Amino acid sequence: MKQILYVSVASNPITDSDMKSLLNQARSNNDRDHVSGKLVYVDGQFLQLIEGVTEQVDATFDRIKIDPRHHNIQLFIEHAISVRTFPDWTMGYVVASIKDVMDVTGISQIHGLSDLYKQVQDDLMKDLIVGLTPTTNR
Ligand SMILES: Cc1cc2nc3c(=O)[nH]c(=O)nc-3n(C[C@H](O)[C@H](O)[C@H](O)COP(=O)(O)O)c2cc1C
Repeated sequence: MKQILYVSVASNPITDSDMKSLLNQARSNNDRDHVSGKLVYVDGQFLQLIEGVTEQVDATFDRIKIDPRHHNIQLFIEHAISVRTFPDWTMGYVVASIKDVMDVTGISQIHGLSDLYKQVQDDLMKDLIVGLTPTTNR
């Protein structure tokens, strides 16, 4: 199995109905492919962790990379795993604020996830996606 974590920029502000259809599509594919993970939306940017059997994760990420709903996709983590981080989630979803990101990472003065790229290690990116909990229920 493998796990990947990337950050990207939403092409347009995401509405509730856009997000609902994106999640329906992602969850039904992931259920079929035994892919699990978590998607965080922070102020126009996505942070997503995807995990599962290597071939299925690669196929999923190949589709995600060419999706016009986002761009500037930056892969942070790509490694083999033996245990899933989010075994029960076909795609958990969290809306977070920059303040939440600062609280979880302990780093002040972050204006966007792009600032974080320069400052944190891969491990901290993973702590971040695990530590962010919903501020909005959708
Ligand atoms: C931020 C973001 C996250 C996504 N996450 C997933 C995902 O976890 N699984 C998935 O199959 N598609 C995901 N998608 C959608 C894919 O880019 C693509 O549209 C979809 O897999 C195509 O599915 P289809 O072959 O059933 O039409 C995501 C798209 C975006 C923009």
